[in-house]
Amino acid sequence: MEELNLTDLLESPAIVEPAASASSAPLVKSQRTGRLIVGNCVDVMRSWSDDMIHLTVTSPPYDKLRDYKGYSFPFEEIADELYRVTAPGGVVVWVVGDRINGGRSLTSFRQAIYFQEIGFSAHDIMIYQKKNTPFMRSNAYTNAYEMMFVMSKGKPRTFNALKIPTQRHGMEMLTHNKLPDGINKKKLGELKKEKTRTNIWSYAVGLGGTTRDKIAFQHPAVFPEKLALDHILSWSNPGDLVLDPMCGSGTTGKMALQNDREFIGIDISAEYIEIARQRLADLGLPVELQHTPLPHDKPLPIDRKFATINANTLPRAE
Ligand SMILES: C[S@@+](CC[C@H](N)C(=O)[O-])C[C@H]1O[C@@H](n2cnc3c(N)ncnc32)[C@H](O)[C@@H]1O
Repeated sequence: MEELNLTDLLESPAIVEPAASASSAPLVKSQRTGRLIVGNCVDVMRSWSDDMIHLTVTSPPYDKLRDYKGYSFPFEEIADELYRVTAPGGVVVWVVGDRINGGRSLTSFRQAIYFQEIGFSAHDIMIYQKKNTPFMRSNAYTNAYEMMFVMSKGKPRTFNALKIPTQRHGMEMLTHNKLPDGINKKKLGELKKEKTRTNIWSYAVGLGGTTRDKIAFQHPAVFPEKLALDHILSWSNPGDLVLDPMCGSGTTGKMALQNDREFIGIDISAEYIEIARQRLADLGLPVELQHTPLPHDKPLPIDRKFATINANTLPRAE
């Protein structure tokens, strides 16, 4: 596959400067450098060419459930831009829950339908089940899941099926070919050692489950890094370009860079981008920071403004 050159792909007004590396972790080689961009993802994506992203793994603000510093969330414009910048056969994984206040908002479903209306195929609707959840309702069952809409631009070009071990395997007399006489016929056959996972994925949440990176929890809504990893492994290959247009604490970026993918993360909040930058830097992951000025921006502290960690070494993924 042709190597991607992010600098050629990105035309947004950018300030990129080098800074020092900050890794003390055990190291292995990598050539990938992630890019973090402060900006409204709609504006940033509008400056890009068509068809350049292989995989997006992202999670939007849910129904104003949390205060993300009052920034706007223009869903339809984001979806339109995501469609345009996604490569044919590329995939967008949209992780979303509904506000529950009296009843469910159903925003997640409306968003999924909009994705379909603008041309995406609803390739799968997966469930992110939370192994532990404190949120209980007095008059309904405890909500323990969010949706993971897997939207593809045409037929997905990559599917690396994740497998789980089967309970029984080896040679067995297997039932087959039950004909109208109702008699089961048996034949020696092999039960496989593993099978493809179902589309319900369960993760522990909170410190140690979502991530062990304490700094990530300075962001109010981090998703599990294993969730991001599983989608990255499923729908992309090494060298592919992975996007998180609302990257928060940088979870998708961490998993993409640790698994030999290119990565671009955007967040409208300079504060959250700084959390992501620091988190990736602490792990020794190479990252460049761009700042697309916003009208309401406060300047970043000078020593934190630019950070390029051009170490050619990476820590081993857990
Ligand atoms: C649910 S959080 C993402 C958390 C992330 N998945 C993680 O693991 O840390 C949603 C993020 O969207 C960002 N956001 C909201 N509107 C945005 C916009 N128009 N452009 C870019 N980012 C935006 C918020 O600042 C917030 O950090």
